[in-house]
Amino acid sequence: LAGRTSEEVVRRYLQKVRNPPEEDCTICMESLCGPSGYKGPGVGGISRAESVGRLSQCGHQYHLQCLVAMYNNGNKDGSLQCPTCKTIYGVKTGNQPPGKMEYHVIPHSLPGHPDCKTIRIIYNIPPGIQGPEHPNPGKPFTARGFPRHCYLPDSEKGRLVLKLLLVAWDRRLIFSVGTSSTTGETDTVIWNEVHHKTEFGSNLTGHGYPDSGHLDNVLEELRAQGITEEECLRD
Ligand code: APR
Ligand code: ZN
Repeated sequence: LAGRTSEEVVRRYLQKVRNPPEEDCTICMESLCGPSGYKGPGVGGISRAESVGRLSQCGHQYHLQCLVAMYNNGNKDGSLQCPTCKTIYGVKTGNQPPGKMEYHVIPHSLPGHPDCKTIRIIYNIPPGIQGPEHPNPGKPFTARGFPRHCYLPDSEKGRLVLKLLLVAWDRRLIFSVGTSSTTGETDTVIWNEVHHKTEFGSNLTGHGYPDSGHLDNVLEELRAQGITEEECLRD
């Protein structure tokens, strides 16, 4: 995808709309029958402001210019996510900084999972300098509380979650750089949108066991990032 312009990337996922419906574009809130309301940088020289496209799988329609602006505001990885229904086009990746993910089985059971052992995942990310995909490129970022230890039951479903978390790690979707909602610190490594259990034998933080819905919740959160078992079997 290197070398493609943003407009070319976006157009791959669109079908032409000749007669736009009498509806608003939910990105800019202007009518699809008129020009895009997007006034920011990065759209000069691209297609006519009134071009409208339909996303090929979900069918939601937007101004082409609005989709290009949205794409340019993200990390420009060649993927696009419908802002209405979250359908992902291409492979979604994140901006997790470099680091290490390891795991092993420990011979103890988690509360609520008495019949199996436990998988411990260890994430380690050192502090560094933000890249162009981060909120403040060139500025340092901190990394607190690493190595972070997380726990899954070593059951069939727990091992499936582990497998998908490994894919999420490779796609840089487990952590991101931003403002911690727990500490308020800016420019720091934070959990992205996939919940992890960081307490082993207790549940003092709310991020521990027992939690009978946890594995299903994580599978749902991974699906929202475009990571499913079916999709992983494909590649
Ligand atoms: N364990 C697991 N998940 C957590 C924790 C925690 N202790 N604290 C917050 N989260 C979840 C939140 O529920 C939210 O969904 O992470 C998401 C982002 O929260 P932030 O506070 O922005 O994340 P971060 O600063 O990375 O984490 C706060 O988590 O693992 C610990 O050492 C870490 O103390 C730090 C805390
Ligand atoms: Zn629009």
